[in-house]
Amino acid sequence: MHETAQPSWDDRYREAQQIWSGKVNAVLADVGSRLTPGTALDLGSGEGADVIWLAEHGWHVTGVDISSVAVSRAVQAARSMNIPAELARFTVADLAQWNNEQTYDLVVSSFLHSQGDFDRPGILRAAINYVADGGHLLVVSHATFPPWSQAHRDPETAEHHHDATTPESELELLQLDPSSWNVEIAVFRSREATGPAGEVATLQDTVVLARKTPS
Ligand SMILES: C[S@@+](CC[C@H](N)C(=O)[O-])C[C@H]1O[C@@H](n2cnc3c(N)ncnc32)[C@H](O)[C@@H]1O
Repeated sequence: MHETAQPSWDDRYREAQQIWSGKVNAVLADVGSRLTPGTALDLGSGEGADVIWLAEHGWHVTGVDISSVAVSRAVQAARSMNIPAELARFTVADLAQWNNEQTYDLVVSSFLHSQGDFDRPGILRAAINYVADGGHLLVVSHATFPPWSQAHRDPETAEHHHDATTPESELELLQLDPSSWNVEIAVFRSREATGPAGEVATLQDTVVLARKTPS
C-alpha cells in the first residue's frame, strides 16, 4: 500500500547531508514552552530537531518517521547534543500502519505532508487516540508552500501534490469530538523562511492546538 513511500523519502534524505534547518519549528517552541513537560510523540519527526528541542525542555519524547535515513540522522543529532537516549527515542515506522497503544501528553504533527499514496487524514485521526486525557494535540501544516520547494510538486505537472490547509480544513479533517476535546488554537500564522539559495519568503502555516478533556 505504502510501498513507494519509504524509498522516496529515503531517496530525498539521501540527496543532501541535511535537508531541514536543524532548528525547532517556531510554533512548537512557542506552544511547547507554555505546556507542562510530560511525554510527547512527534509524527514524521524527520531529522529530529523538534524531538531534540522537546527533550531539552524536559519532555520524554518519541519520534516516528518512515525514513530510516532520517531516523539515523535524528539519533546522531540527539547523541551529538548529549541528549540521554531515554529522553529522545526514535522509531522507523509507517504511521499509516503503526500499531501503537501508548498515549502521550503531547502529540505533535509538524508539516506531515507527503506525496504519493499518503493517508494524512487517517494518520491524524489515529493520532487523536494517542493523546492522553488532559493532553494536547498540536498540528502545524502548510497554508502556503515555500516557492523554492520542489518537494511539494508533482514532477510531471508541477502541481502541488497536496492541498494547502486552513484552520477550518484541519478541524474538518480531525473531526474532534466536542464532548472530549477543546480547540484552544485554530489560526493562520506567518513566518519568515529562507530557501536554499538564500531567498526569503513569508509563509503562512495553519496551527491547530486542541486539548483532550482531563478524566
Ligand atoms: C515535510 S517532512 C517534516 C519533518 C519534520 N516534522 C519537520 O517539521 O521538519 C515530513 C516527514 O514525514 C515523514 N513521513 C512521510 N510519510 C510518513 C509515514 N507514512 N509514516 C511516518 N513518517 C512519514 C517523512 O519521512 C518526513 O520526514
